[in-house]
Amino acid sequence: MNVYDSARMTDVLRPLGYAPVDAPEAADMVILNTCHIRERAAEKVFSELGRLRKIGEERKAAGLGKTVIAVAGCVAQAEGEEILARAPYVDIVLGPQTYHRLPEMVARAARAGGAVIDTDFPVETKFDFLPNAAAPQTEGNLTAFLTIQEGCDKFCSFCVVPYTRGAETSRSVASVIAEAQRMAASGVREITLLGQNVNAYHGDDGEGGSATLAGLAGNLALIPGLERIRYTTSHPRDVDQSLIDAHRDNAALMPFLHLPVQSGSDKILKAMNRGHTAQEYREVVRRLREARPDLALSSDFIVGHPGETEEDFEATMQLIRDIGFAQAFSFKYSPRPGTPAAGQPFQVDEAVKDERLQKLQALLREQQDAFNADMVGRTLPVLFTGRGRKPGQLSGRSPYLQPVHVEGPDELIGQIAQVAITQRLTNSLAGTLIRERACA
Ligand code: 5AD
Ligand code: SF4
Repeated sequence: MNVYDSARMTDVLRPLGYAPVDAPEAADMVILNTCHIRERAAEKVFSELGRLRKIGEERKAAGLGKTVIAVAGCVAQAEGEEILARAPYVDIVLGPQTYHRLPEMVARAARAGGAVIDTDFPVETKFDFLPNAAAPQTEGNLTAFLTIQEGCDKFCSFCVVPYTRGAETSRSVASVIAEAQRMAASGVREITLLGQNVNAYHGDDGEGGSATLAGLAGNLALIPGLERIRYTTSHPRDVDQSLIDAHRDNAALMPFLHLPVQSGSDKILKAMNRGHTAQEYREVVRRLREARPDLALSSDFIVGHPGETEEDFEATMQLIRDIGFAQAFSFKYSPRPGTPAAGQPFQVDEAVKDERLQKLQALLREQQDAFNADMVGRTLPVLFTGRGRKPGQLSGRSPYLQPVHVEGPDELIGQIAQVAITQRLTNSLAGTLIRERACA
């Protein structure tokens, strides 16, 4: 989501004459877009700011004028005052919900001495004030992110998101469709719909009601040129029957789903305030796989949440063995200021967290390797996104986001073609194009 937000900040600043540059040394203004989800991410902000201060001083000494330094994103939202106290040379502090006001903040920062801070949760939504998204983000403009929902009302015990991104809000169907149409017209073939809790989507449908994620995906699938739809991140509690049906009926929905479970222990799931049991998660996965047998899953795991015993951890390992994940992200629990879990007793020892994380990651790595090895001998539809490293080679992505390399002509870039997978390389797959026989 920060990638998407950064692109939109670029859009909003373009009319003022700003354009992106490759390195901070060449910048009149640097915006550090930050993440507060774990301690490590938040700590990086201060070391990065120190580096930017130095670059600013060097530029000034070289007669290049003042470098404006802005801190955006969730660290700014949560620790705005602390940032200004520890790094008084920062000019602008802005939260994730106010970046449509950047032009005004930049003007104020130029006029006034002292920092400009805006970490409101405004009543207006930034999406109504941002200019149309310009050329999107990744892989030769063939794939793009699109935020449809933001914020979260779930209040998991460990998580800062409800405090930094704010309450859950959904963009209207009309505004999402309009943005997706512009993306498709500019060549985008694959869209990833974003939200902290994307399957709680309930955007205004323009007819006095609200749409579901499944309904929205159905509308998006009708847009000419838009071949593939993904969404992330979803919550097991908000997987409803319409979404399960969509995985069966909507061919544009990719059979690869990121569905965080965090833990396999009912006791810890309860302490985490996740609102479901391990068995309920298994059941949701069973129904999804019944609807879409080639569906693969990815997930998030936390080890060492307060109160987690060896037995709880073993329950998580068992859930992983039972379900089988194609990919996963796993983390040591990191206490976040202001969240309920940070103040709970029975914090788990750092060394124990390390040990559990290693075991968990070894198992997940094994499963991921097995999943990738299993692709050899299969035929997969691949969206070609660019040339490969070797001459004559193309690279693309499979439905499961695996990078795939084949020998093939440049004309295939931007298209989807069937590939027979012949080999698994370290982080990618290799294969050969299956040429469709021309009709006589
Ligand atoms: N400590 C460790 N991991 C966390 N996550 C969120 N908050 C924390 C925390 N305090 C993880 C969860 C979530 C992912 C985005 O980050 O697994 O799904
Ligand atoms: Fe955080 Fe996700 Fe829980 Fe919301 S559902 S509080 S974003 S972990």
